[in-house]
Amino acid sequence: MTKDGAPVPGFFDLMASDPGYSVCPEARLAALRARCPVAADPVSGHVLVSRHADARRLLNDPAMWRHPARAAPGSLFHRFTELRPVDPAVPPGERTSILMLDPPDHGRIRAPLQKAFHARVFRARPLVEQVVDAALAALSGRTRFDLVGELAVPVPIHAIARILGVAPERQEAFRSWSERIIVTLNPLRSAEEDAEAVAANDALQACLVELLEERRARPADDLVTDMVEAQAAGAPLSDTEIRINLMALLIGGNVTTTDLIASGVKLLLETPDALARLRADPALAAAAVEETLRLEGPVDFTVRIAPGEMVIGDVHVAARQPVFALLRAANRDPEVFPQPDRFDLDRHAGAAAPHLAFGGGAHSCIGAALARLEARIVFQKLVAAFPDLALVPEPVAWRRLPGFRGLERLMVEVERG
Ligand code: HEM
Repeated sequence: MTKDGAPVPGFFDLMASDPGYSVCPEARLAALRARCPVAADPVSGHVLVSRHADARRLLNDPAMWRHPARAAPGSLFHRFTELRPVDPAVPPGERTSILMLDPPDHGRIRAPLQKAFHARVFRARPLVEQVVDAALAALSGRTRFDLVGELAVPVPIHAIARILGVAPERQEAFRSWSERIIVTLNPLRSAEEDAEAVAANDALQACLVELLEERRARPADDLVTDMVEAQAAGAPLSDTEIRINLMALLIGGNVTTTDLIASGVKLLLETPDALARLRADPALAAAAVEETLRLEGPVDFTVRIAPGEMVIGDVHVAARQPVFALLRAANRDPEVFPQPDRFDLDRHAGAAAPHLAFGGGAHSCIGAALARLEARIVFQKLVAAFPDLALVPEPVAWRRLPGFRGLERLMVEVERG
């Protein structure tokens, strides 16, 4: 409720599984941001922050916690716990990836992983170009296809799998496991989905156990080798910690980058002047990627937990209460982005894009540079390979995974002039 008594959306009204939200998320998010920018939602027990300035401050605050077990037991976020019950005998870093860890384990594990991964991403352009070329070559001669299944899905999976060092014949299995595990991010998941996720998690772990052993015996030019070598050189990481976090790269990198690519192509095909400019100047792909991240970011929200009582705006936050930064709402905040619903390639010219699609602070996305690289290369090569691409006129189908924004399918066709 706002002060004037009008109802405002709560956390459960912001779920991709609710057609009233997923058809037009902006309607509810704009209402929330304008009428109740910091909202205490009694149903979920969460506080929702929708203004850009508040969200950025929250994400950058190093005092905030992250692990769901630290959230108040009555809150929904407490359910975002791990697949299995917490075993206190297992150290925190061996229970969950850096995504949900707090200091000191978070920094201890993230630092060596980030160093090795970013060095690989820095050199990854030729590899990503090969992956995109192969996906486009498979589409040669086709006049109508689903861009999600044929391009946006395979590119991130093959790119991250090659960076890690996964053999080509195992890559399809990796994809299906990662898709089943990501469902655990859904607090409304079914018991059946839970069981499938546990099985997929076991299979993926077993595969990584083998890969680590293989690379210890026979080093190769890949990230798995980098991590076993970092460990041998003294980085304080156990094998389990390495495995869990390599898995986080696979899972964090696949669905999100797929969604960035597909949503970006959709926006470009819907905005003919932007598309024409990109064709004439491929360097504009970087701006197209930033605008896609801002307008149709693949992740709707991220969370922090209040370590003690605090006040945000004029709302009292209880100790251990989860506070959600609504990234999508912040990224369309008219205070920061004039005409926020417009896809504008000139918006970030000369300035760092201030959108919050990758979160912020200590937990900001470790894969941002890779996601950007992949999407830029896809945009550039796709418009060159298919100068007459157009959307097939059909209803848009968004995926139903709460917290994420991505297309189920994007049918495109080559126009014949
Ligand atoms: C467009 C694509 C992507 C988006 C929108 C995205 C978004 C995010 C967001 C919002 C967070 C949480 C940040 C926070 O709480 O402040 C995050 C964390 C993370 N992302 Fe991404 N991500 C993307 C791609 C990737 C890729 C390609 C990888 C790896 C290959 C990756 C791996 C991770 C990991 C491991 C974390 C946890 C970092 C930490 O907690 O320290 N992501 N991402």
